[in-house]
Amino acid sequence: MARRKRIGILTAGGDSPGLNAAIRGIGKAAIGHHGMTLVGFRDGFRGLVEDRYIALESRKLSGILTTGGTILGTSRDKPHQMLVDGVTADMTAAVIRNYEKHGLDALVCLGGGGTAKNALRLARAGLNVITLPKTIDNDVVRTDACFGFATALDVATDAVDRLHSTAHSHHRIIVVEIMGHGAGWLTLGAGIAGGADVILIPEIPYSVEAAAQAVRRRVRNGSNFSIVAIAEGARNIEDAAAYAAALQQKKAAQAGPERDQAVAALAALEAAHVGNTLRVASELEELTGLESRVTILGYVQRGGTPSAADRLLATRLGSAGADLIAEGVFGVMVASRGDGTDPVALEQVAGKRRTVPPDHSWVQSARHVGVCLGDE
Ligand code: F6P
Repeated sequence: MARRKRIGILTAGGDSPGLNAAIRGIGKAAIGHHGMTLVGFRDGFRGLVEDRYIALESRKLSGILTTGGTILGTSRDKPHQMLVDGVTADMTAAVIRNYEKHGLDALVCLGGGGTAKNALRLARAGLNVITLPKTIDNDVVRTDACFGFATALDVATDAVDRLHSTAHSHHRIIVVEIMGHGAGWLTLGAGIAGGADVILIPEIPYSVEAAAQAVRRRVRNGSNFSIVAIAEGARNIEDAAAYAAALQQKKAAQAGPERDQAVAALAALEAAHVGNTLRVASELEELTGLESRVTILGYVQRGGTPSAADRLLATRLGSAGADLIAEGVFGVMVASRGDGTDPVALEQVAGKRRTVPPDHSWVQSARHVGVCLGDE
C-alpha cells in the first residue's frame, strides 16, 4: 500500500481572522479528500525549530471554522535569524531536521509577504513549501485577496459608522486610526464604506492644512462635524519625503557605515512617528476651531470571528493548497484569482508589498464622492 502523504502546517506573522478556517480547509481536504495526515507546529517557525507540535486529526478541525486567532499560535520569528538563548542564530538546519523527523512531504505556511520570504528560503534549502496569503493589511502581491482583510474591513467600517453619530452629536472632529502597516487598503476601504470625510493613507502623503480646509468647507456647508480616517502608516509630505530618502539610502548601501546610518535614520523616523494620529488631531483642532477626539482601533481589527467572505476565501485557498500538494506542486503561494485559485512562484511574492496605487479606482471613487485625501 502506498504511504500516506504527510503535511506540516504553521501560522506565522500577525494573526488574522480566517486562519482557523484555512487550517480546517487544508486539513479536511488533505485528510478527507486526499487521504493525507497532518501535523501543526505551534507559534510559527519557532515551533518548527523547537519541535513543538500537535497532531491535527479530523476531530481537531471541527468547530474552528468560525473562531478567531489561530489554534496553532503564531510568532514573527524567522528561521534564519532566530533569537535563541539571547543570541540570534540561523536555525534552518533545525527546521530541516524536524521536517525530516516528521516525514513531511510538504510544509504549508500561512502568512503574508514576510512569511513567503521565509518560506522561499526553506524551499531553496530543499523543502517542499507552499504558502497561503493571510493578512488584514491586504498587501500581498499577485493575489486578488488575502484572508483577514474582509473581516477587518467590516470591523473598521462598523467603527467609522458608530463614530459618526457621536461626532455629529458633539460637533467634533473624530480622527480614527486604522491598521495596515505601510499599506492603505484597510483605511481607504473602511473610510469609503463608512463615509469618512477625510482619508489619509501612506501612499498619498498629506498636508494637515488640506485636511483642515476640507473640514472648514464642511462647516461652511452646514456640517459642523467630520470623520478623519488615518492609516497608522500615513505621513505628512515632509515626513514622507524624509522616510523615502532614508529607505532609498538603505537600499543603495549594501553594508557598512552608510547602511548603519540609514537604518538608524529609519529607526529615528519610526520613533518620531509614534503618536502621529494624536498630533494630527490637535493640529486639526487648532486649524479649524472644532474640538477633536482620537480613536485608535488597534487589535480589535484583528480579533474575533471571521466574516463569511473570509471563511469562504480561507476554505477555497486551503482546499486548493491540499490539491496542489497532492499534485506535487511546491514553491508557490496559493493565490485567489477571480472565483478560482492560481499557484504563484514564491520568488514573485517574497518580501514584496502591494500598496494602493495613487490612481487606483478606490482612490478615484473616494475623490469623486468628495472625500479629501489630504493632498489638495
Ligand atoms: O500585519 C498586520 C498588522 O496588524 C499590521 O496592520 C500592524 O501594523 C501590525 O500587524 C502590528 O503588529 P504586531 O502584532 O507585531 O504589533
